[in-house]
Amino acid sequence: MKTLLLITLLLSEVLLAEVYTKADRVKDMQEMARAMSYIETGFFYNNIDLVQDGAFSLSDAIRRVQPPLTELQEKDPMTRYMNERVKFTNKISKKIDNKAKLIIERFREGDTSQAVQAYTKIMKQCMECHVQVRNW
Ligand code: HEC
Repeated sequence: MKTLLLITLLLSEVLLAEVYTKADRVKDMQEMARAMSYIETGFFYNNIDLVQDGAFSLSDAIRRVQPPLTELQEKDPMTRYMNERVKFTNKISKKIDNKAKLIIERFREGDTSQAVQAYTKIMKQCMECHVQVRNW
């Protein structure tokens, strides 16, 4: 009986953990906005710790971001093809994640101009997604 209860508990936790809500997304977005400003402040104060903290927290958050569940559950391949949000999100997330790593590397090497360029490219990705899918 106890085992059954435990299994049920574990199972419901797993299921719950998989649901990524709009509120979760808003929270991650806010974290990313904060992370971006950390990175920027790190640039201005020439502070690698701030840059790194910002970049790590940006990567953490972008890896969590998902389109709405309805999209993931869409069975009709044509509809999926038409909105393509899953693919689109994964592509952008990967780019942001890679550029976040690049920021740390370049800044550490003292190549601030490349670090700033990577930052600008991240900003462009944020905006690109917002232009296309802001109102999911
Ligand atoms: C894959 C798409 C996507 C990407 C990439 C993306 N966003 Fe968003 N963002 C959204 C959506 C969608 C919303 C609106 C909230 C919702 O409907 O879930 C939003 C909302 C926001 C908000 C407002 C949150 C609030 O309090 O209402 C901020 C701030 C934000 N994004 C920052 C960022 C930053 C910074 C980046 C880049 C590092 C970024 N976003 C990248 C899709 C994206």
